[in-house]
Amino acid sequence: MSKTATLEINGQKHEFPLITGTENEVAIDIKTLRGATGGVTTIDPGYKNTGSCESGITFLNGEEGILRYRGYAIEDLADKADFLEVAYLLIFGELPTKVELEKFHADIKEESVVDDDIKKILDAFPKAAHPMGVLSSLTSALTAFNPSSVNVDSEEDMYKTVVKIMGKFPVLVAWAMRKKSGLPLNYGDDSLGYVENILKMMFGKPNGEYTQNKILVNALDKLLILHADHEQNCSTSTVRIVGSSHAGLFASLSAGISALWGPLHGGANQAVLEMLEAIKEDGGDTKKFMAKAKDKADPFRLMGFGHRVYKNFDPRAKIIKVAADEVLSDLGIEDPVLDIAKGLASEALSDEYFVKRKLYPNVDFYSGIIYRAMGIPVEMFTVMFALGRLPGWIAQWKEMRARKEPIGRPRQIYIGENHREFKTIDNR
Ligand code: CMC
Repeated sequence: MSKTATLEINGQKHEFPLITGTENEVAIDIKTLRGATGGVTTIDPGYKNTGSCESGITFLNGEEGILRYRGYAIEDLADKADFLEVAYLLIFGELPTKVELEKFHADIKEESVVDDDIKKILDAFPKAAHPMGVLSSLTSALTAFNPSSVNVDSEEDMYKTVVKIMGKFPVLVAWAMRKKSGLPLNYGDDSLGYVENILKMMFGKPNGEYTQNKILVNALDKLLILHADHEQNCSTSTVRIVGSSHAGLFASLSAGISALWGPLHGGANQAVLEMLEAIKEDGGDTKKFMAKAKDKADPFRLMGFGHRVYKNFDPRAKIIKVAADEVLSDLGIEDPVLDIAKGLASEALSDEYFVKRKLYPNVDFYSGIIYRAMGIPVEMFTVMFALGRLPGWIAQWKEMRARKEPIGRPRQIYIGENHREFKTIDNR
């Protein structure tokens, strides 16, 4: 294969190097484009054809439905590792030894207390506030309580900042939920595993012992692993671009949480459950909703279907579908919404509209069903996604810093008015 790409503009030829990744993906390196061409730029709304960085964290092949973290298949990680091991792998690049994992966990526990004054901020939110807004605000507020977290050039402060957020984020998640359900705010239990502790913080009642349910611990562990990273998606790109201005980690993560909130991204898991409930309320006619999804005059979309990168089955959806069946049968739950989901999926997978556009169920299609079975309120679903995505965001932010990436600042093509004479207010 040629090592350069040639671009001809107004009869002048310009050569640009081709970059090949370790999985043989090829990119045209246009870093010198504007200089070489006298200011010609590229335009690519939604960055559908634009690589924003070189990254060694996550590989995904949307055509073949492959997802790997640091070279390890998602299927192996979901089956054989736990969430904290995967977090370590993403953030530090290698699977931890027992000693490394124990130290990482001990450092996290050491930092897992949130300043009690944060409760006052939480207190000021109305009970009806969406927990994603609450989480984004509290994550940003952590900077004020941990000023050294903005010392982005200090490796030591940054390690501390990483273990701080790994420790404090689950507390904020639990508090966002407890505020809504009217439960008193609590702290974790250092004697528990990372995921067990999350469950206890979320569900523990003030008037009794919390009993761990192995099925729920395993299901949550798996869900968090499946959500842990997904290369340059909307929220991750947000975290990297905010961090590229040398803003601190907590501020960058807070922006990422806001990006994740939207229904086209992480908010889809809440939207899926609401859609399935609406179909059930409407009498369960999946064909009617399939027709709405295909009608271009109707804004309705089949939530949980389609993906910017996967043009095949989302490998995470395959694993989650099996987990959803297991959790529901282990817990003895019969959920009519799961039957509607299965009906929709099988209709869509054989429908010409969906087949032609390569629209398959994505990770969010089944995750809400498990969260619901676990007793997690619908508005918390996207928060659970954020909890899983945390190590991915940290790893991507850390990589962006280590590679000394320049500040993110895209160009535009201006299509507004040309120069106009200013008229004073009396003359308009
Ligand atoms: N239902 C009906 N039609 C759809 C859907 C859908 N869910 N998704 C895409 N299409 C159609 C779309 O109308 C377009 O049709 P046409 O070519 O006739 O104009 C075609 O498929 C391509 O869609 P697109 O919007 O150009 O594709 P995109 O890559 O910009 O969008 C997406 C990807 C995920 C935003 C979109 O598929 C969608 O809105 N899905 C529903 C929301 C959802 O489930 N989001 C979760 C994504 S996975 C979790 C995550 O990583 O955040």
